[in-house]
Amino acid sequence: MTADDLKKLAAARALELVRPGMRLGLGTGSTAKHFVDLLGQRVAAGLDVICVATSEATQAQALALAIPMSTLDETPELDLTVDGADEIDSALRLIKGGGAAHLREKIVAAASARMIVIADDSKLVERLGRFPLPIEVVPFGLEATRRAVAAAIAGCGSAGELVLRKRPDGARLVTDNGNYILDAHLGAIAQPEALALALGQVPGVVEHGLFIGLASGAILAGADGLRLLGA
Ligand code: A5P
Repeated sequence: MTADDLKKLAAARALELVRPGMRLGLGTGSTAKHFVDLLGQRVAAGLDVICVATSEATQAQALALAIPMSTLDETPELDLTVDGADEIDSALRLIKGGGAAHLREKIVAAASARMIVIADDSKLVERLGRFPLPIEVVPFGLEATRRAVAAAIAGCGSAGELVLRKRPDGARLVTDNGNYILDAHLGAIAQPEALALALGQVPGVVEHGLFIGLASGAILAGADGLRLLGA
């Protein structure tokens, strides 16, 4: 089985959690994309749900599948959000934002009664931080913000390079919200909770990719089958 087959397997299991009438948050990334595809098939067969997307890409995919879409302004409380992750630890702490969508992903997850993470089991880690931590920052004052972010990271016992994310053509990547992303290459995050709090206090940081206390469960697909964490 390929990694993509595993992602699809996890997405299919998450679909079993969906009930008629639910208000759903739709994640972003290659795993969430499978979930949206499968949901589209169920909607075409008559399932009644209303959904909020976590990115422009997911919004476009869902609309193309004729999935009924709403916004958090119209539908501020959601029953279930299904999303991918870049790293998951056994305490259901996540790193997200590899697809630059973590700001909206966090807002949608926080508005949901449940957030279920779907992934192939390569995303399960003992310690968060091998995947670079995405930090969304406003363009104004970038260098000053970068220095303040570096100080916040050092104050929490971690260290590593901060790299401004670029698009494949070399231009600065701009998020759906008009911001930049600094990727923090930390290797291992010594104190995730403390770092999440410290980054949240840096002026210019819009949101970081540490999701702590947001995921209620995870569905991980591996060669040996499905593994459920808290789900
Ligand atoms: C988007 O910004 C991310 O948080 C994704 O959810 C995450 O990168 C997982 O993506 P894949 O499912 O493509 O690995």
